[in-house]
Amino acid sequence: MLKLTLPILLLTLLLSPLWASATPADSAGLTKRDASSVLAAVTTITTQLTTLNKTVSAYPGGIEGSLSALQIQAETIQLEIDLKAAIVAAKRSANFSDTESLSVAQAFVALEPTIASTLANLVAKKPEFDDGLLGVASLSFLVEWDLEQLSFLSSQLGKAVQEKLSATYATLAPLVLDQIAAAFASAIQAYQ
Ligand SMILES: *[C@@H]1O[C@H](CO)[C@@H](O)[C@H](O)[C@H]1NC(C)=O
Ligand SMILES: *[C@@H]1O[C@H](CO)[C@@H](O)[C@H](O)[C@H]1NC(C)=O
Repeated sequence: MLKLTLPILLLTLLLSPLWASATPADSAGLTKRDASSVLAAVTTITTQLTTLNKTVSAYPGGIEGSLSALQIQAETIQLEIDLKAAIVAAKRSANFSDTESLSVAQAFVALEPTIASTLANLVAKKPEFDDGLLGVASLSFLVEWDLEQLSFLSSQLGKAVQEKLSATYATLAPLVLDQIAAAFASAIQAYQ
């Protein structure tokens, strides 16, 4: 009995955030947002990626990895919340000046290798995720689902930011946004 219910309980815990509404807290709804709020949101995303990456590095898979898998899931949900908050900040912002556009563009250029490295780490851990959930069922389907969500939110963020950049930077934006999209596409492919 216990043998059967424990994996089901864990699976329920792992999946529960998927239908919990993950809307970003918006306490500053009336505040005018600008490039600085977008830059702060990108910093939050970078910090969360680093946190998630560390937990992924330590993930051993199998039975002993169950708590760590829950932590990875929680940190991924937080990353989705951070991405949504960044999208809101970008959408609410006025158009960026040239100076602001430069700093936002630089922030995305710096973000790209952090994303690529975290995704590469997730791909390297696929054998452990395949062997997740008490060694009974694979967690890889969940990682793939998460990657698809993160990929979608990242492209939404890219679009929202690109619309606020001044002309020159808006023209250059696809260079870095396409790299981020490609990193997600190859990570998702590795999990399919
Ligand atoms: C913001 O920039 C877009 C072009 O990227 C332009 O269509 C829009 O009119 C601008 N908005 C303001 C308020 O200047
Ligand atoms: C992610 O973890 C890997 C393996 O520990 C490491 O090589 C890489 O630099 C880390 N990337 C980030 C963005 O922390």
